[in-house]
Order: sequence, then C-alpha cells, then structure tokens
Amino acid sequence: MKREVTKAIFPVAGLGTRFLPATKSVPKEIMTLVDRPLIQYAIDEARAAGIKEFIFVTSRGKSALEDYFDHAPELETSLRRKGKTDLLDALENTNMESGAIAYIRQHKALGLGHAVWCARRLIADEPFAVILPDDVIAAEKPCLQQMVEAYQDTGGCMVAAMEVPPEKASAYGVLDIKDDMGTMVSVKGMVEKPDAADAPSNLAVIGRYILTPKVLQNLNDIKSGSGGEVQLTDAIHQELHQDRDVYGYRFRGQRFDCGSKAGFLQATVAFGLSRPDLRDEFGQYLREMMTLQSAAQ
Ligand code: G1P
Repeated sequence: MKREVTKAIFPVAGLGTRFLPATKSVPKEIMTLVDRPLIQYAIDEARAAGIKEFIFVTSRGKSALEDYFDHAPELETSLRRKGKTDLLDALENTNMESGAIAYIRQHKALGLGHAVWCARRLIADEPFAVILPDDVIAAEKPCLQQMVEAYQDTGGCMVAAMEVPPEKASAYGVLDIKDDMGTMVSVKGMVEKPDAADAPSNLAVIGRYILTPKVLQNLNDIKSGSGGEVQLTDAIHQELHQDRDVYGYRFRGQRFDCGSKAGFLQATVAFGLSRPDLRDEFGQYLREMMTLQSAAQ
C-alpha cells in the first residue's frame, strides 16, 4: 500500500530571541542563508518530498512570512520589463498555489507539541510531516524525501535522527534504541532534553518528522513536560505505550542548527561555498582569512 504524505506543518511561532535585535521586526524564518530565507529551504524540501499542503503555525509579528509567499505583481512586472528572467525564476519559486498554504495562530507559546496540536483540524485523519525550519539540512536527496521513501516500508511514526556528542544530547530529544538496523532504528523510548547522565543514547531527534494523526490525539491529553512546555517528543513516545511503531531515520546529509548563531554562520559558509556563482571569490577570501589568522597566532 502506498502511504501518501501530502501535508506538512511548519512551526514558526517562536520569538527567535537568540537573534535579537535582528528578530525584533523580522521573523527569524526570514533570515537569509546567502539569498534565500530559512523558510524557503524548508518549503523546497517539503515540495521535493511531495508535500502539497503547507500549514504554518504562526504568532503575532510574523506577517512578513505571509507576505513572503504572496505574489509580488509590481516587482514581477518591473523585472519582466527589464528582461531579468533569472530573477523572475527565483521569485517564481516563492509563489504558492492558491489554497496551498494555511496559517494558524498559536496564541500562547506553550511548546512545540502545542504548536503542532494547533493544526489538528487541518490535518484531520492523515499522516503528516513536521519540518522545523531552524534545522537546515544540506543533502543530495532532500532529507524529508529520504524519509518519505523509507516510510513506504515502515508506516508508524518516523523522526530524523543524528548522532551528537554525548555532552550535547541534553539539548535534544533523544532516542532509546530497541533495534539498530543501520539507516533505521526502531525505538523503545524517547526523552526530551534529558540530563546528560540520563540520556538513553546519543542519537538525537532532528527537526523532521512523519507522524500519524494518533499523535495529535495524544497531544490532547499530554501535560507539560521538559522546560514546562508541551513536548512533541512526549506525544510520540506515547505511541510506544500503545504498541505502535516509532522509527529513527539516520538521514544522509549535513545538518546545520540555524537556531544558533554559530550554526547559522556555519551554514552561511557552507551554502556560500556550494554556490557556483560565489565559490571562487568567497573561497579565496576564506583562505586569505585563514592564512592571516594562523600568521597572527
Ligand atoms: C526541538 C525538539 C527536540 C529536537 C530539536 C531538533 O527542540 O523539541 O526534540 O531534538 O527540536 O532541533 P528545540 O531545539 O526547539 O528546543
């Protein structure tokens, strides 16, 4: 049986305080890696995986996100008049089909689980994906597409997973592994941000999920967990109590934590160097910087 995943939730209600003052007036998802906002990377990945309906869970002050996905007729006319077809193509990528995007407000910052739960009526009774735009993943085959393909064989719930240094595990949801099959692990438990000493493994959850609608029902009953927030990890963990399968998927690709300044800068360098139009000039500059730095040491 083919299991179709056509809806994705993008939780974008966070305040982005780590990037103040920039995020005082600009949603962090609009911050750009080279020349594309973070949210565009997330949308492109979703499209590649076959997603057709895009559900944004937003909050106050995020209207720039809605404008970003709207048509810009004046800009398009002006570029057309000037014959700037490459820029027109770049703009076209930001246009969404009418009715393909929905915006839901999360009225209170009660956590990732609560944000996902806010979209429950739009998901109804289908499996769905969740993409956290802070986690940018550079990969030959986009991460969610890898997962959707693997999910055809497994069903259940699936989370992207990656080994992290043990001392970093307490910053993530962490998997308790039942069976390690290489690319895929089956899971017997999940803990959100465990104390380093209590982490069941160093296999961390990264911000890509394929979930069954049962998880939304679990969220109905869940009390706040780690950090006083309603945790998506806890709602997925509940599936295991009900004897339903949860898998971790070790994706192929490089993940950047664009929710942190260091991660954002690393992503900027990596994406800058991967661009044919920038590679030579930017690479040369970085080499010069490195030489200067080592001479100064
Ligand atoms: C969220 C999830 C966590 C996951 C992480 C990945 O945490 O709650 O389980 O490991 O994303 O980036 P956050 O980073 O939003 O605190």
